[in-house]
Amino acid sequence: MTLRAFRIVGAAAADALEALHALVDVRGALEEAGAVTVWLDQALPEMPFDGLAIHELPPAAANATSTGLEHDRAILVAKDLLVRPPWVERPIGFGGIELVVPRGMAFGSGEHDSTQAALLALHAAWKAPTSFADVGTGSGILALYAHVRGCRRIEACDVEEPAVLAARELIPGSEVTLGGPETMPWRADFVIANLTAAEQHAALPGILDRWSQKAALVLSGMRAHEVDAVASRLPRVASRLTRGAFTALTTPPSA
Ligand SMILES: C[S@@+](CC[C@H](N)C(=O)[O-])C[C@H]1O[C@@H](n2cnc3c(N)ncnc32)[C@H](O)[C@@H]1O
Repeated sequence: MTLRAFRIVGAAAADALEALHALVDVRGALEEAGAVTVWLDQALPEMPFDGLAIHELPPAAANATSTGLEHDRAILVAKDLLVRPPWVERPIGFGGIELVVPRGMAFGSGEHDSTQAALLALHAAWKAPTSFADVGTGSGILALYAHVRGCRRIEACDVEEPAVLAARELIPGSEVTLGGPETMPWRADFVIANLTAAEQHAALPGILDRWSQKAALVLSGMRAHEVDAVASRLPRVASRLTRGAFTALTTPPSA
C-alpha cells in the first residue's frame, strides 16, 4: 500500500493529531515539539485549527523503507528500570529491572513519554499484586513489567489485532483479548491503561468495572489540560506523575 505523509506544524499540531485519530485511520505518526507528521492512506481532511502550516511529503519520502533499527537504544526510564529491544545489548553494569520489547507494529517500545509516565507510576505503586490488567496493551510493555516482577495472573486487551498478537507473544500465559476492557475475563487487583484522554473517558466505566480496588489503578496518556477531567471521574487520586507532555494518575487501593 502506498501511504501519504503530511507534516503539520504549529501550536495546535498535537490537537490536530488527536482530531485525526477520531476522523481517519492514522497509519503512523511522528510527534515532535510543535509538529507532527502523519501517514494516511487517503487525503488529509480539513483541519479546524488556526495557525497550522501543512505540507505533504513527496511520495518517495513518505514511503521510504527503513529497517526501523537505526535509532534503537536502551532506554533508562528510571535508574533501576530499563527498556531495550532484544537486539540491543544490556548496558554494562545495569542490574535493575529490564523490559526486553521487540519493536513491532504495536505501540509501546518505551520511547513515548506516556509509556514512560505509565511505567514510572507502575514502578512506584508496585506492591506485588496477585493479578494485573493492562487496557490498551499495545506491544504488551506494561504487562511485561508485571510479568518480570513475578505476577502470574495477567490479562490485557487492545482494540488492534496486531497489538493482541504482539502481547500474546511477549507474555506467554497471559490472557490477551481483542476489544475493550469489558472483554477481559476477570477483575484484576492492579489495573493500568495508557490511552489518550478521549479513549480514557470512553473506556473508564469498563476499566473501573474490571478493577477489584485491592491494588492501585494507574491511568496515563493525558496531556496537562486533560488531567483534571479524568481525575474528577476517579474515586480518589494519590499522585500525578508527568513525563514530557503526558501525565499518569495513580489511584490507591481502597482501604
Ligand atoms: C498509547 S497506546 C499504549 C500502548 C502501551 N500500553 C504503552 O503504554 O506503550 C494505546 C493502545 O490502546 C489501544 N486502545 C485504544 N482504545 C482502547 C480501548 N477502548 N480498549 C482497548 N484498547 C484500546 C490502542 O489500539 C493502542 O494500542
